[in-house]
Amino acid sequence: MPEHRSEPSDPHPLSDLDEWESFLQERYPQPRAASSFRDYGSNVRPAVREFYRLNHRHQTLDFVRAKQRQYLALDHREMSIWEAMEFLNTLVDDSDPDTDLSQIEHLMQTAEAIRADGHPRWFILTGLIHDLGKILCLFGEPQWAVVGDTFPVGCRYSEKVVFPEFFRDNPDWEVAEYQTECGIYEPACGLDRVHMSWGHDEYLHHVVRDYLPEEGLAMIRYHSFYAAHREGAYTHLMNDDDRRRMEWVRAFNPYDLYSKGHEPPDVPALRPYYEDLIAEFFPPRLAW
Ligand SMILES: [Fe+2]
Repeated sequence: MPEHRSEPSDPHPLSDLDEWESFLQERYPQPRAASSFRDYGSNVRPAVREFYRLNHRHQTLDFVRAKQRQYLALDHREMSIWEAMEFLNTLVDDSDPDTDLSQIEHLMQTAEAIRADGHPRWFILTGLIHDLGKILCLFGEPQWAVVGDTFPVGCRYSEKVVFPEFFRDNPDWEVAEYQTECGIYEPACGLDRVHMSWGHDEYLHHVVRDYLPEEGLAMIRYHSFYAAHREGAYTHLMNDDDRRRMEWVRAFNPYDLYSKGHEPPDVPALRPYYEDLIAEFFPPRLAW
């Protein structure tokens, strides 16, 4: 008989969302420094393990469909992009205030790194906004339904997803239809048709989908899909468009993972540049 697991009382095991991203940096170090890659499992902080346990346990196909119904009508708020950045900044951060930057500072660091490399304006803007979907936390969603590596639901889990053993606690594990290679999907059906585990990527994609080029939309929608863009999994569900999109997601990933230092950008000085950039692509208000 399987061991009974009692549900923990804390639905927010991470001290803050950055703890997940710090884990990603350890799991996927920059190629130059990649010596500890295979060891990531042994020294993971207990909070991060617990976070992934909850994520893999609760992200069922039914849960994802319910969140799509709840959020994709975009009827929660109207805000400008800048207002959303300021709203995200109100996320209470439990960790050391001396070393942690605000969410706006993190976003600007990503954008500034893209800008410094001479990339197009839509790419810089994508860097600036890519994590705004984390406002889901402020709508009351638990951490495991906001961040974490994303993965398709309704089909067999790849061993390339971090902590694949935790999927055994997901009720979908027992649904035979969902545990074939393609599950409820057709081979090569395209990721557009695939339900991804729910989180900030998918949500923001829908908020901004009418305003950014498809390359930027792909970066936003799949930036946490590490099993695909770093590990090469789930190609059996992809079509040619997806393979092209994954190249853009890979181009974006280093800026997401490795551009966040401890030196805060000068937000007031940079704000006019970014307000112009936002106005070039977005209307004054968006539905969230
Ligand atoms: Fe993110």
